[in-house]
Amino acid sequence: MTRHATILLAIGAAITLFATCIHGPAAPTETYTGPAACKSCHKAAYDSFHLTPHAFASRPAKKEFISGSFRLDSNSFSFNDYSPLPATVKVVMDQRDSGYFQTAWINGAPRRSERFGVVIGSGRKAQSYLYWRGSQLLQLPISWFAATHSWANSPGFPVDQVKFNRLIPAHCLECHATTCTLLPTTATIPGPDPPAFFDRATMIFGIGCESCHGPGAAHVAFHSRHPAEKKGQFIVNPASLSRQQRLDVCAACHSGIRQALQPAFSFRPGDTLARFFGPSPVVDTVHAEVHGNQYGLLAASKCFRFSNDLTCTTCHGPHTGGTSDLAAFSQRCMSCHGPGTNHYCKRPPLKGENIQQNCIDCHMPVKASGIVNLMVPGQKRLAPLLVRTHLIAIYPTTTRER
Ligand code: HEC
Ligand code: HEC
Ligand code: HEC
Ligand code: HEC
Ligand code: HEC
Ligand code: HEC
Ligand code: HEC
Repeated sequence: MTRHATILLAIGAAITLFATCIHGPAAPTETYTGPAACKSCHKAAYDSFHLTPHAFASRPAKKEFISGSFRLDSNSFSFNDYSPLPATVKVVMDQRDSGYFQTAWINGAPRRSERFGVVIGSGRKAQSYLYWRGSQLLQLPISWFAATHSWANSPGFPVDQVKFNRLIPAHCLECHATTCTLLPTTATIPGPDPPAFFDRATMIFGIGCESCHGPGAAHVAFHSRHPAEKKGQFIVNPASLSRQQRLDVCAACHSGIRQALQPAFSFRPGDTLARFFGPSPVVDTVHAEVHGNQYGLLAASKCFRFSNDLTCTTCHGPHTGGTSDLAAFSQRCMSCHGPGTNHYCKRPPLKGENIQQNCIDCHMPVKASGIVNLMVPGQKRLAPLLVRTHLIAIYPTTTRER
């Protein structure tokens, strides 16, 4: 090494040391900040993102975030409407100075009361509610169902008694929040989905920027220190990942319930999902479960199997959401199935029909979930959650009878 180079190195080392002294060590790349810290430099992405259902996938239980009503004429759910019970059994949603509560009443006497702690779901379709017991979360018996605009029993809960004992595993929050540190007690309990102990203060609610870009503290610290730097550092841009990795960013939460191979909240964008979870549930055209497995359904479609660039963002903007513009979605279909090509729809339009306005209802119909069913007022049977299937196919029933 020349003397010149040695001096340069020494100067470089001194500058590095100096910078470290002024600014302290760089933020670790594993530290999260929450979306508010991204706003100042990425206003457009933030302004569009913070209105999407992702941003509201979980929230603390403030009144304005709870979709259901606390008005005296619509704040209770009676189990006697559904089951021939020897006692009168109801749950009342009540508002007190100390918060919002679900209280079980049996034969006119209050039996048990628990406070709303966490709201799960934007309310686009439904909301479920959790309560805190120390550092554990448990599900409240009554949920809210958008289709009937009413309180409903929580999915999978019994119809003849009020249950307050359903512990929430970490994977529930892994899909509905950005991150949370799990207390060491979580790991020591054996079993496939051990009851989780959450470090409440570390919970970042909602699917935030960092759910798809990875922890952002180091990126924020770096760019705050180097305002002239034009290249993003210490952050993942999914656009620069492989197709499978880009799919995995979304599939981390949109590929159904899978066997966990690693602790919750350890997957990072850019990782290979198959190292973190067992295979996605098998999809066949007859038994496909439409809830929560958009990745598995899409991957089973011919569009996916016979093309090499279809991903979730072919149709969904990463920072937009909650859109129901089916004509705009149909444009995405026609990027591959253009009119005039031999990949265009083979079904001749009926008189006056413009099939280009809506490829979706025929080839991606809304279907009933077979696993998420709720008991709602005025209906004797369970009402299913309705979800748009991502198994793009020819559906004789929906396509011909329309
Ligand atoms: C102090 C300003 C600043 C803050 C705060 C900031 N960024 Fe950035 N970010 C930048 C700059 C500068 C770039 C590079 C130019 C560009 O791509 O916009 C960048 C680039 C990016 C990129 C693209 C990286 C690439 O390789 O193409 C992503 C993704 C990103 N930021 C996400 C975030 C997230 C998420 C947050 C909040 C956790 C955040 N940023 C906070 C300044 C900032
Ligand atoms: C649901 C996942 C998701 C969330 C949430 C998300 N992003 Fe992105 N973001 C992406 C994807 C995917 C891309 C790459 C888009 C592409 O392929 O061009 C991207 C691209 C970017 C880029 C690169 C420039 C651009 O706009 O394409 C920036 C900067 C960025 N995101 C910032 C943010 C910030 C800030 C937030 C929160 C306010 C955020 N993102 C939330 C998925 C997400
Ligand atoms: C593997 C990821 C995953 C897990 C685990 C998971 N969910 Fe979800 N959940 C989703 C996705 C994705 C959606 C929206 C898309 C859909 O319905 O297919 C959703 C939708 C919901 C909705 C409806 C939100 C709305 O308005 O559309 C509620 C309520 C909900 N989940 C509650 C829960 C609760 C409570 C748990 C844990 C006990 C849980 N989920 C576990 C991924 C998951
Ligand atoms: C990235 C390109 C691409 C996109 C985008 C795309 N497809 Fe396809 N699709 C294909 C390919 C490739 C095939 C298989 C070969 C063929 O039939 O042309 C296919 C097959 C189909 C089939 C026949 C399925 C069967 O089971 O026989 C239908 C129906 C279809 N697509 C509808 C749609 C609709 C509706 C959309 C939009 C929601 C869409 N596609 C988006 C590429 C795409
Ligand atoms: C950390 C988990 C997580 C990740 C990562 C994630 N999602 Fe979601 N996504 C959810 C949950 C939970 C919901 C339901 C939100 C609600 O309504 O409560 C949802 C809802 C949606 C919806 C329906 C609501 C809307 O915006 O119209 C779309 C579309 C969607 N996600 C697409 C994507 C795409 C595309 C990606 C990858 C770029 C992605 N998601 C990544 C968890 C996630
Ligand atoms: C070929 C286009 C296309 C692709 C690719 C696609 N989607 Fe969708 N997605 C749609 C359409 C169309 C809707 C329905 C929008 C509506 O009804 O308002 C939808 C709706 C959704 C919903 C809401 C479903 C509901 O009913 O609650 C979620 C969640 C979602 N997409 C996630 C994903 C994820 C994750 C991927 C990648 C694995 C993906 N999508 C790929 C077209 C697509
Ligand atoms: C009213 C319902 C309906 C609408 C709207 C519709 N399709 Fe179809 N599509 C069908 C039916 C039915 C078939 C099967 C036709 C047959 O094989 O006789 C079909 C077949 C197809 C095929 C398979 C063609 C092949 O080579 O076998 C593709 C691809 C397709 N449609 C794409 C689209 C696209 C893209 C749109 C929107 C521009 C669209 N469809 C709108 C009902 C519909």
